[in-house]
Formats: sequence, structure tokens, C-alpha cells
Amino acid sequence: MNWTLAQRAEKMNPSVIREILKVTELPGIISFAGGLPSPQTFPIDAMREASERVLSQDGKAALQYAASEGYAPLREWVAQDLLKQGMNVSPDQVLITTGSQQGLDLVAKILIDAGSRILVETPTYLGALQAFTPMEPTVVSVDSDEHGVDAADLRAKVGTGADKARFVYLLPNFQNPTGRTMTEERRAAVAQLAIENGLPIIEDNPYGDLWFDAPPAPSLSSRHPEGSVYLGSFSKILAPGLRLGYLVAPKALYPKLLQAKQAADLHTPSFNQRVVAEVIKDGFIDRHVPTIRALYKQQCEAMLAALDREMAGLGLTWNRPAGGMFLWVQLPAGLKAIPLLDKAVKKGVAFVPGSAFYATHEEGGANESTLRLSFVTATVDQINTGMAALAAAIRESL
Ligand SMILES: Cc1ncc(COP(=O)(O)O)c(C=O)c1O
Repeated sequence: MNWTLAQRAEKMNPSVIREILKVTELPGIISFAGGLPSPQTFPIDAMREASERVLSQDGKAALQYAASEGYAPLREWVAQDLLKQGMNVSPDQVLITTGSQQGLDLVAKILIDAGSRILVETPTYLGALQAFTPMEPTVVSVDSDEHGVDAADLRAKVGTGADKARFVYLLPNFQNPTGRTMTEERRAAVAQLAIENGLPIIEDNPYGDLWFDAPPAPSLSSRHPEGSVYLGSFSKILAPGLRLGYLVAPKALYPKLLQAKQAADLHTPSFNQRVVAEVIKDGFIDRHVPTIRALYKQQCEAMLAALDREMAGLGLTWNRPAGGMFLWVQLPAGLKAIPLLDKAVKKGVAFVPGSAFYATHEEGGANESTLRLSFVTATVDQINTGMAALAAAIRESL
């Protein structure tokens, strides 16, 4: 059979990360590659007890079709929780999604036409590029530094008239892939220019609760509420297998997102929503998340110490994230991450080449001498062994 594919299907690419994860799943490989939360943090007992309560008290409703907007007590919890981000939203603005990845897909469907310009920071979350690309946008990379997106370059790229960007997609906290966080000043400048230019912001914040010493500054959405869609997730604070996330949209946009959600999957699984609402109803998150922060901080410090020790004199630089799951490494000039990965895997360690996270694959567009390291999936012992192996692979490549 000769299938004639839609143009949008032609534009879809296998995720580079998924391909790489196959290698990292080989036995004996220490992986700094995946974006997998530490399974040690999954609240299995609390989930088991809550599942039993939901099934015995509310089993029929939990297994029935349900409202597309989501389970009301969960929407109320989300609206309440967002007060800590400086956001004052009504539960009616909360749409429960099947992971925040679905939020990206819904946003793409309702805001992007073929040829629309959309703006992303550099580098950016690969999964967002995958969600946006099938809608055939022109993706414009905006310069970014260790404090996030560059406000002046963003202003220069907004555009006007038919050419005006449909939105800018931003990850202000412990960004994937770099682990960077936007400063208060940068947030204020970006929100100000978005308001002045009528530029919508899609704010993706799955890592914001995973701070080590102090919470990040209030969200961009709190500063530009009528012009922002905020995406949140339970994946990194409970468990990703639940596929539970949410978006918050202004009232003017919400009905279209809801229609897109109905078309996509009618609603997010009722059972999962009710179990999570049951788990979190009495302050569980406030007790549980600090344990994740403490673990990830310890693992991040172990990785930074291992980098300091093993990479001394090799000409690499890296950042010191204030939370989240990732850090970002710049290799010495001329050393490319993809060939290095081959050598590293032979020595038993894997990472993700940074070029995967750039919107442009034009010559010179992606920084090929970067890599993303996750510090949360490997144990401290594995971090030490893996970093020594990575240093050996680098030494061999210089
Ligand atoms: C920046 C970012 N956004 C969205 C997601 C999707 O998360 P989920 O669909 O599990 O909520 C991820 C997952 O790693 C992510 O890193």
C-alpha cells in the first residue's frame, strides 16, 4: 500500500532523544540522557491508598466518562496552588490535560496556521518543537543567555501585521534543556514588551517547584494574565506515568482550547484525576515536594563536584542550576557532542547532544558543542563513575 501522507505528517521527525534513549537503555550504561524523574520519589503508598479510597467511595464515577474541563476538586486545587506563582485565576480557567505535553499540542492547534511565525528561546524544549512543527509554523529562535531569553532580540523579532508572531514559548524556571532560570528583571522586561506589543506568552513550567534553596520569581503569566497560557504538570512532583497536567488560559481563549481537548481525547482519565485529587487534598504536596528538592539538590551537587574534579583542565564550562533536573555543558571549541556520544557510550555513559534542542538545523544555527546532563536519574555513585568515563571519552577526543 502506498500511503499518501498529509504534509504535516511529512514534517514530523522521530525524537532524537527517544532514539538516544534506546542506546541508554542498553545494560550497563549510566545515563545522564533521559529526562526521567527519580522513581525513588514516586509516592507509591499514597497512590495505593488513594486508589483504594477512590474505588470504594467513588468507583462508578471514577470509571465513567467525565467533563472535558477536568475534575472540579483538582481544578480548584490547581487554582489555589497557583497563588504561589502570583497568579490569581478562577478554577474555570483551568483545563486538566493529559500531561502538559498535551497542553502544547492544544496550543499549537488553536494558535498556529501554516506559515505563522512563532518565537522560541535558544535552545528550547524539544517536545514543544515536536508539538508545534506539524502545524507548519516558521519557528524563529530568539537569542538567550544564562538568564533566559534576550528581551531586546525578542522585541526585534515580534514582527507586525500578518507577520506578527502568534506567541513566544518560554520556560522561565530551570529550563529544559539548560537548567537556566529567568531573573526577576528579565521577567519584568519580557512581560512589559509582551504587553506593549500584544505578544501572547506560552509559559511552560513543569520544573518550577523543584527549587533547591529559594523559589523562583513569580511567573510571566502573573504579569500578563490576559495574554498568557500557563502550562503545569504533576509529572515532576508526583509521577509522569499519571499523564496529568493542566493549562490555565484567559477566558477569551479557554473555549477553543476546550474544543481542541474534546477532539483530542474527550477528557483526561477520570480515575487518575480523582486519585491525584485524593492524594493531594490534605497538603501532601507541601510535605512531599521538599523531599524531591532535597534529593535533587544533593544529586546536582554530586554532579557539579564530579565535573569540577574530572573535567579540570579539559576546557569545558557548565552552569550551576538553582533547581530542576538538568545542567548544560559547553565543550571546548571544535569538539562536537554527537561524535563524543559514540565514544562515551562505548565507555558506558550517555548524555543528550545539545544540538537536538535548537529550532534551527541550518549550518551554524545549532551549537553542536553542547550537551545536556540530567542529574536526577543516576545515583551519586553512578554520577561519579559516569563522569570519570565521560572525562575519559573527552580526553580521547581532544
Ligand atoms: C519543558 C517541558 N514541558 C513539558 C513536558 C511534558 O511533561 P508532561 O507531559 O509529562 O507534563 C516536559 C517533559 O519532560 C518538559 O521538560
